[in-house]
Amino acid sequence: MPKIGDIELPDFPLLLAPMEDVSDPPFRALCKEQGADVVFTEFISSEGLIRDAAKSVMKLDIYEKERPVGIQIFGANLDSMLQSVEIVEKSNPDIIDINFGCPVKKVVSKGAGAGILKDIDLMVSLTDAMVKHTKLPITVKTRLGWDEDSIKIVEVAERLQDVGCKAISIHGRTRAQMYKGYAKWEPIAEVKNNPRMHIPVFGNGDVDTPEAAMKMRDEYGLDGAMIGRASIGYPWFFREVKHYFKTGEHLALPTMQERVHAARRHLQMSIDWKGEKLGVFETRRHYTNYFKGIPNFKEYRMKMVTSDDAVDVFDAFDEVLEKFGDYQFEQV
Ligand SMILES: Cc1cc2nc3c(=O)[nH]c(=O)nc-3n(C[C@H](O)[C@H](O)[C@H](O)COP(=O)(O)O)c2cc1C
Repeated sequence: MPKIGDIELPDFPLLLAPMEDVSDPPFRALCKEQGADVVFTEFISSEGLIRDAAKSVMKLDIYEKERPVGIQIFGANLDSMLQSVEIVEKSNPDIIDINFGCPVKKVVSKGAGAGILKDIDLMVSLTDAMVKHTKLPITVKTRLGWDEDSIKIVEVAERLQDVGCKAISIHGRTRAQMYKGYAKWEPIAEVKNNPRMHIPVFGNGDVDTPEAAMKMRDEYGLDGAMIGRASIGYPWFFREVKHYFKTGEHLALPTMQERVHAARRHLQMSIDWKGEKLGVFETRRHYTNYFKGIPNFKEYRMKMVTSDDAVDVFDAFDEVLEKFGDYQFEQV
């Protein structure tokens, strides 16, 4: 069974990926209930934490029910990263994860996120310093490399392990690919097959069906799957994968009642956590998936994603139950 430091995990754990404006406490709670074995916060700026920026600090909120939980931070400056480790420790997470994979320009241009893939020595020395600075397990999430011509992930992973990184999650794309094309799992399997590797190697990228998760386990031999987009508005993905592993069969899709119940709870937890305005706004991105594939649904979806008032959104949920309560969802 894989372990992250002293944290024991089940065979082939499913990890909820860090996702900006998505992996917040309400969403993490829903994914945890549906079987996610480890959850991560969205990335948090080390510079923002040091400045005590309210938005960054709020992202440190974690709850007992979601353990084990990792807090992910990003940055490229040693002092800032070390200071932010101290700030993060006060929230008492189980893991501190370093983001060395974010491809967006505003992060990369500062040498952070995937930007550091251009300076592997710095990546290793930052990790080394962070490991030495805390008793919490440090893990890394990264991509295959900066571009197709600079993929050295086998060597990089080994060096990170050698300085004390306790697990590595690898998104099978390069920075140059952004989110285009397909994630390649072969290079991740090469990392795992390196006889010197002993820390868990988690695969990430395009795990969007139970079959894909099984392939990652059985054909690529990875230690677990980190799941991102397939879970947005669909926290049931975790239980579906687990059911498939156990029985080889697909679990029945969540009913309309379950979907409305989850959407309600999601919205309510979001409002409780970040207030009505942000709660209503930031839960919107999930509704398309919660209610995917229902014919003649536009009117209700529009109400959910354009209303600024929570009462109107809750009303829309009630109307959906009333009108579509018997709707049978089918595998697509
Ligand atoms: C909306 C969104 C936000 C993301 N934010 C982060 C982030 O904060 N930190 C991070 O390491 N990766 C982030 N990612 C990348 C995901 O963690 C993951 O690596 C990527 O989506 C590939 O996995 P998937 O195919 O399962 O979605 C984000 C992805 C999406 C779609």
